[in-house]
Amino acid sequence: MDVFDAVDSRIACRAFLDRPVDPAIIRDLIVRAARAASGGNLQPWHVYALTGAPLAEIKRRVATAFADRDPRQAESEYPIYPPTMWEPYKSRREGHHVQMYGALRIAREDHAARLKQHKRNYEFFGAPVALFIAIDRKLGPGQWADLGGYIHALAFLARGCGLDTCPQEAWARMHHIVRPFVSMPPEQMLFCAVAIGYGDHKHPANSFRSPRAEVGGFCRFFGFE
Ligand SMILES: Cc1cc2nc3c(=O)[nH]c(=O)nc-3n(C[C@H](O)[C@H](O)[C@H](O)COP(=O)(O)O)c2cc1C
Repeated sequence: MDVFDAVDSRIACRAFLDRPVDPAIIRDLIVRAARAASGGNLQPWHVYALTGAPLAEIKRRVATAFADRDPRQAESEYPIYPPTMWEPYKSRREGHHVQMYGALRIAREDHAARLKQHKRNYEFFGAPVALFIAIDRKLGPGQWADLGGYIHALAFLARGCGLDTCPQEAWARMHHIVRPFVSMPPEQMLFCAVAIGYGDHKHPANSFRSPRAEVGGFCRFFGFE
């Protein structure tokens, strides 16, 4: 797979096959993704990788803690989104939900089914491997952007191994469970999780392609004509 195919075929995978991944591949991906650029070469990412029994246990702890509660009401340590949305972001976010829940045939007013699907985040959508990505809380926007670079380098490299990924900010709301579980030091903050595994490409959750704005909507070209 060349780099163009890796970028083009990456999706936020929300259903994984029950198929293990060679731990050596995951270790290799974690190492190689650190070739990502970072301002001042700070390499601000901290990664906690889980599989097997530890992965099962953290899923169990979250499921127990939120058996009768809506995890969307839990506080993240940082504001995942601004409290209100404006255009064009509002429509894009709503469009994403329409597309995703539509693919899963979950109606807008079916709150129970929506909550159930949201809770799949905390099962890592069935992935056999999960990463938690954390950052030193004293670092700023430049270094948060570097975390995105690391996550995307990993996602594209994963495609090169036939693997799929899903970045998951939903896990930021579980910091109070994740932190003690992985012995995260207090100076670090949980940014997100990344689920990794072999995607189930026949599953409805993976059956749609998210749209993108036309290039004219986000880039102005100067001197190209
Ligand atoms: C930092 C980050 C966090 C995300 N968190 C979640 C999440 O918690 N749950 C989820 O289902 N998707 C999550 N996504 C996936 C986005 O919804 C997805 O990337 C977007 O809709 C575009 O679709 P695509 O990745 O399939 O192209 C996240 C993506 C990023 C980059």
